[in-house]
Formats: sequence, structure tokens, C-alpha cells
Amino acid sequence: MANTKSPSDSTPMTRRQFHKSLAWTSIALGAAAPSARRVLGANDRLRLGVIGCGSRGGAHMDLLMKMREQGEPVDITAVCDTYRPRLQRAANFTKAAFATMLHEELLARPDIDVVLIATPEHWHGYQTIDAMRAGKDVYVEKPLTHWRQLGLAEEVARVSQETGRLVQVGCQRMSSSAYTQAKALIQKGLIGKPVMAETGYFRFGDWGERGMPIDDPQARPGPDLDWERFQGDCPRREFHVSRYFRWRMYSETAGGPVSDNYIHFYNPLAYTLDLGYPTKVCGLGGIYRYTLAEAPDPEYKQERDVPDTCNLVIEYPDHFIVTCAGTQANAYTTYGSNETPIIRGWDGTLLIGGREILVLRSDDGREIHREPIQTGIDQNKFWADFLACCRTRQQPLSNAALSAPVNTTMQMGVLAVRGERVVRYDHERKLVIA
Ligand SMILES: NC(=O)c1ccc[n+]([C@@H]2O[C@H](COP(=O)([O-])OP(=O)(O)OC[C@H]3O[C@@H](n4cnc5c(N)ncnc54)[C@H](O)[C@@H]3O)[C@@H](O)[C@H]2O)c1
Repeated sequence: MANTKSPSDSTPMTRRQFHKSLAWTSIALGAAAPSARRVLGANDRLRLGVIGCGSRGGAHMDLLMKMREQGEPVDITAVCDTYRPRLQRAANFTKAAFATMLHEELLARPDIDVVLIATPEHWHGYQTIDAMRAGKDVYVEKPLTHWRQLGLAEEVARVSQETGRLVQVGCQRMSSSAYTQAKALIQKGLIGKPVMAETGYFRFGDWGERGMPIDDPQARPGPDLDWERFQGDCPRREFHVSRYFRWRMYSETAGGPVSDNYIHFYNPLAYTLDLGYPTKVCGLGGIYRYTLAEAPDPEYKQERDVPDTCNLVIEYPDHFIVTCAGTQANAYTTYGSNETPIIRGWDGTLLIGGREILVLRSDDGREIHREPIQTGIDQNKFWADFLACCRTRQQPLSNAALSAPVNTTMQMGVLAVRGERVVRYDHERKLVIA
């Protein structure tokens, strides 16, 4: 397990103290013995609890309700959110029998098999561990943990192995067959020894100032909004309505494009190439586009401190390197895909486009191989495959063991950009030199 020497240790509570301090951990554990779980048959109905009923949680609930109408045996039986109007809306929409603002109460219920976690980044790891300890399988939105929480992703992977609970990390790109196809071509030796990969993530939009709605500018902490719980292991602050509803702009609760977006292509890349942990990550970037002058509403002018543009270089043992380029200020991409991965080997170059995989010779670029991508990215399939795994107990592709090193790599990327430096990983001691 990677060490947990973390910047969060400088916060009022260490991660471990924070997690232990949550009284509900014992409630969840008490309800949790995996042996108490029912054994599921291939057609048994799965009972699902949703933690985090905002924009993404809402989209998932919408999709799951449609899948249910079309015959998928799944019911949403409980919902949880720290903001009551969203909780109420989710309860009305799903007709879930149980609604709560505390996730431990949801996890303590025996009538839940699977949990969806779509809360802000800094809650994912803790809630995933609690859910597994409570005997539930987990679909958790990316990233697996917040950038401050070094070592927590490894803890998630360890608890998954220990409890036998499944974790699917919400990188829906993994539903495409492109990566399994590319992996097979590379294993067959079509490109020779891989030497580098180029990836990029280009978007247009701030994903904060304009991208996240403030449901009610007058919202305040109280019985309808649990600010204390929202803050989790963050240093304590006065309530600020933008920090609650637009948490993606603030580094205490988010990591910016690297942990939020780059992880989308990095999980599949790690799967394709069996990447594991890097040796070094360096990065540069900053707030190049969405500066204070761009803030649409002067009332919220304290605004973002996460970058909108980040460029990383990531080195692995055995002479392999990845470059990750990206900005939220320009969406142009090449080769028909938003996150075009190009994998270069000694003998060939493999390109994963929107519809096909192409392999070219490494010297003169002549075509060696071309094949269509059999299955594209499909969020429905991603859910259906995961629910099937929950019944068969097979590991999903986007699992915790794959995602832990990816998550740590992205954390190193955030640290590198923040400090304008090289961040190293010590393979012997299994820890990030932060
Ligand atoms: N896979 C994708 O393509 C994709 C797309 C969008 C968002 N996401 C991810 O989904 C997650 C949620 O993003 P969003 O845009 O829905 O944010 P959001 O703010 O709209 O929703 C988060 C919800 O969680 C609630 N919440 C906060 N702390 C909580 C806690 N401790 N317990 C219970 N509820 C809590 C908030 O009140 C809010 O309703 C993020 O991790 C984001 O990266 C993934």
C-alpha cells in the first residue's frame, strides 16, 4: 500500500483521524458483514442506493430508471444528499422508500446491494470504503479520491480485495471495446516495444462559474444544507454558497482538469498498457483562461483556484513515457476523438480514433493494420456490465486495482502543476515523495 504522507495532514485532522471520528463508521461496520449478504442469481433484482443527487447523480438516476423500464432488474431504494431540495427531488423522482442527509444511515440499511457515489471528489474514497465495509458493491464517480488524499485509493483497493466487494470507477470510456482491442494488438507485438504515449483532453467551458448552477443563492447551512458534512476532511471555512454548489473550482474540494478529466483517458490507457505506478511526474499549467476578470458574477469574485490548463509528462520504469496535454479553453482535437491516444512503439504507432484503430509503421508511417472499434462508449452498457458483475461477482474492468495507480498518478500530476516541479514515486517504499 502506498504511504499516506499527505498534504491533508496539515489540515486540522489527518485523514485517519477524520475517518475514525465519524461515529457512523461503526454503524456501517455493524451492518456490514459481507457474509450476511444475499447470494444473487443472474436475474435477481438489485437494490441500489444513491449518495449524491446533484447533476451527475441525477443523470445516473435518470438512466437507471430508463433501464429499469426497459427490463433491467434494478430498483433505487434509497437516496442521500446533504442538500435537502435535491434529496427531495431525487426521492420524488425515484420513489425511493428512504431518504437521508447522512450516508451512514443509507449504508446501514440491509435492503441495499449496490451504492452509487456521485458526491464531490473529496468524499469518494471515504464513502467507497464505508460502503464496502457495509457489504455493498460500489459504482463511484471519478476520481477515486481527492488529490490531497495520498494513499486513500490504495486503501480502497485493499478494502475491495479484503471484503470481496466490487468497485467500478466511473470512467465510462472503459465501456468501449477499443482498449481491449488495442491491448491485444500491442500484446501481439504489432508496435514492438511501447516507448511513449500521447494523450490530450481538450474542452471548451469553465465547468464552474457558468457550468455549475447555484440552485438557490440564498441557501444557508441549517436543516436543509449540511455544510459541516459537506466539508468532510477540508480545513474549516465560513459557509460560501459558491464553494458549496460550485465545488469544482476550489482545490480543497477538487483537483481541476487533471483529476477531473484526464483520468477519463488515463484509466483506459493504464488498462491498455498495464501501466502501474510511474517514477516521475512533472507538470506546468495554471489559470490561463478563466481568470477573475472572466468571472460572470462580481458577487462571487473570490472564484476558482484550480487551473484550467495543465500539461504533464509522466515517466515509467522500463523506458516508457506519457505526455498529457489539455486545456478547458479550446476543444479542437485531431483524429476524430476528443482524447486521441497515440501509442508509439519501436516498430509501429497505434492510434485509437472515434471509430477505428489504426497501426502505422514507426519509420515511414505506412499502414500495417486497421480495424473497426466493435463497441463504442456507452454509459448504459457500462451500468449494465457493472450490474451483471454484481450478480456474477466478476471484477469490472474499471476496478479499484486498476484505478488506484491511475489515481495516484493524477494526484502526482496535480501536485506537480501546483508546485511547478517533478514529483517522484518511490517504488521500493511504495509512496509518493510529495
Ligand atoms: N463520469 C463523468 O462523465 C462525470 C460527469 C460529470 C460529473 N462526474 C463526477 O460526478 C461527481 C459529482 O459531480 P456533480 O457534477 O454531480 O456535482 P454536484 O455538485 O452537482 O452534485 C454533488 C451532490 O453531492 C451532494 N453532497 C456533497 N457532499 C455530500 C456528502 N458528504 N454526502 C451526500 N451528499 C453530498 C451535494 O449536495 C450535491 O447535490 C464528481 O466526482 C464529478 O467528477 C462525472
